Amino acid sequence: MKIGVYPGSFDPLTNGHIDILKRSLRLFDKVIIAVAPNPKKAPLFDIKERVAMIRESTRHIPHVEVEIFEGLLAEYMKRKKAHAIIRGLRVISDFEHEFMMALMNRKLDSDVETVFLMPSEEYSYVSSSAVKEVASYGGEVKELVPSTVAQRLREKFQRSRR
Ligand code: PNS
Repeated sequence: MKIGVYPGSFDPLTNGHIDILKRSLRLFDKVIIAVAPNPKKAPLFDIKERVAMIRESTRHIPHVEVEIFEGLLAEYMKRKKAHAIIRGLRVISDFEHEFMMALMNRKLDSDVETVFLMPSEEYSYVSSSAVKEVASYGGEVKELVPSTVAQRLREKFQRSRR
């Protein structure tokens, strides 16, 4: 059974993430979405909200698990007996950071492989941070994120604009 781990902050999940998830399921028997609390990034959604949104948005997709992971990803990979880390690469500017992370993870554990997948070009400009920025000014994001995420973004920013 080939297990892939798709790690990230997912603050919040976007349709680009869903696209990468579906592509990765062509390569792996099971994919674990591993959600990092990442408090240093001051997330908009707390970890429980992020996990709930991911669970709701991926309920219809088989062979997917959603978990919180803390600590080093390389160690988590070993605990899960996973075969590869899955990361999405949208544009060249993603590459430098992703390359550094992949090599650092390999340094920490030489068995850890990272697989990069490209999302459909319609999502190449979609990022969690751009979605948050647009939503914070009341812009429409319903084509960029699952409906539960769009709803929660509306609630979050309506509350803060009041
Ligand atoms: O969605 P993000 O914020 O780009 O995800 C980054 C994440 C969570 C994958 C990365 O920060 C991570 O792996 N954190 C765990 C700590 C770790 O293992 N660091 C070593 C690799 S540089």
